[in-house]
Amino acid sequence: MTEASRSLAHHYHQRTKYFPDALPRGTLNWAEQPDVYKHYPLGSRFDLQGYLRPVEQASDHWWQRLSQFLFHSYGLTAKFTSTTGETVYLRSAPSAGALYPAEIYLISRGTSHLPAGLYNYQVKTHSLVRFWDDHPWQRLQEACFWHPALEHTHLALVTSVIFQRSAWRYQARAYRRVCLDTGHLLGNIDLAASLCDYRPHLIGGFVDDAVNDLLYLNAEEEGAIAVLALADLLQVEQNLPRGCTALPSALSIETVPADDEQLLEALHQVSKITPQPDKSLEQAQLDHPRQLAGSQYAFPFGNNASTKVTAISWGEGLEYLTKAMLHRRSTRRYRGAAMSLDPLRQLLDFTYHPENYSDQGFDAQPDYFDLSLIQTFIVVLGVNSLDTGCYYYDPAATTLRQVRFKHFRRELHHLCLGQNLGRDASVAIIHTANLKRAIERYCDRAYRYLHMDAGHLGQRLNLAATRLGLGVSGIAGFFDDQVNDVLGIPEDEAVLYITTIGVP
Ligand SMILES: Cc1cc2nc3c(=O)[nH]c(=O)nc-3n(C[C@H](O)[C@H](O)[C@H](O)COP(=O)(O)O)c2cc1C
Repeated sequence: MTEASRSLAHHYHQRTKYFPDALPRGTLNWAEQPDVYKHYPLGSRFDLQGYLRPVEQASDHWWQRLSQFLFHSYGLTAKFTSTTGETVYLRSAPSAGALYPAEIYLISRGTSHLPAGLYNYQVKTHSLVRFWDDHPWQRLQEACFWHPALEHTHLALVTSVIFQRSAWRYQARAYRRVCLDTGHLLGNIDLAASLCDYRPHLIGGFVDDAVNDLLYLNAEEEGAIAVLALADLLQVEQNLPRGCTALPSALSIETVPADDEQLLEALHQVSKITPQPDKSLEQAQLDHPRQLAGSQYAFPFGNNASTKVTAISWGEGLEYLTKAMLHRRSTRRYRGAAMSLDPLRQLLDFTYHPENYSDQGFDAQPDYFDLSLIQTFIVVLGVNSLDTGCYYYDPAATTLRQVRFKHFRRELHHLCLGQNLGRDASVAIIHTANLKRAIERYCDRAYRYLHMDAGHLGQRLNLAATRLGLGVSGIAGFFDDQVNDVLGIPEDEAVLYITTIGVP
């Protein structure tokens, strides 16, 4: 048994798998659902609502950019009345079960507009609350091992998760979902930044307890999982090179809790980074992020299809991106019809080849933690001019390689826990990773990185599908081992996430 397979991350993955004969049961008492908004009774408020409209004064432009950026990232974009008569709000980023475990904090080093301090983004009122007015920047730098991007920037975001918001419904498996949700949010942050002339620099290597303490989080309930130095691209000195995005934690061996109820917290604890006396991580922050996955599945047989295509047009001033971000919704029902091949190619092009969109104003190389670990498979149920079956997508070669030749509609329906989205979609895009290899590289912290990156890819797929008039929905509940069976891949390849796409 390798060390990686004795790690808690590995155990967590095995123990939170869904199996057809052992699905978690029980009814939900909605009256017990944790509040999805965080409240700060004290602190000064900064309204952002007024800046969603066009502003006249040049001095308001700074506020307008920040307001638009946060709104497109995580603002309230839809409202409906539930069966119990309650008003429910949905946000620009999707979330498993609409439970919204993620919070956004803004840290200011001190700018002429935003005094130094700690701020929470209050989604419901689209405002910032400054709940601490000290100078926290140096503590942030220290907690992030002096990441170079924090040297030149003046604002930083921290995304945290409140575990119980999701665990209340999904129990131990919620850790996967809070990381996937955060990944979607990171995807939105990245694209919203393109609209507002920011460039977020992703920092995955930080001393968790130091960032939690800095933000006064109750670490038993909430944990920071991503830090982003927010470069203002209108300031020349903030046009920075890409930096290191991921550092390892320690590896926990044989520390598995007996009780499933403690699994989530135990994994989060062991995947924390603690202060390093030897400065090795400080040095590692100078490393460059890794690129896309190399070709893993080079099968000699099967049909290949090129995915080269004309790029999606996002319009003058990215107007269609704005629309997609504000109107994106998870599709609740597909028609079961076939989609065309070119839109599928375009979805993949936008998601895996951001460099093809730099002339439209997008970042050519957005930050991920480590995309080299993630593989992409596509189950084709109905795409004109493409045989049904399973395909491996090789992004570097812009090629789809057929690996299985069957019609998988019935299997997909079943492995998505019988959800009709799985039966009626045109394609299911499935992200996987060799968990042992990932753990060898990042120890237990790999689990966070993999799921956040898969969510991030999922959000690009969501927005591209929205732009192309297709339906889209994520699915984080699936029979893990049966997905491997359908794809014909070894058990070491962990299934991270499924994005269904189809005709709405
Ligand atoms: C990680 C993740 C997993 C999801 N899993 C499912 C799922 O299994 N089934 C489903 O119908 N919707 C799923 N969704 C969609 C959510 O239910 C949806 O995002 C939420 O209700 C909010 O609605 P909106 O996306 O339209 O804003 C998932 C979304 C995310 C981000």
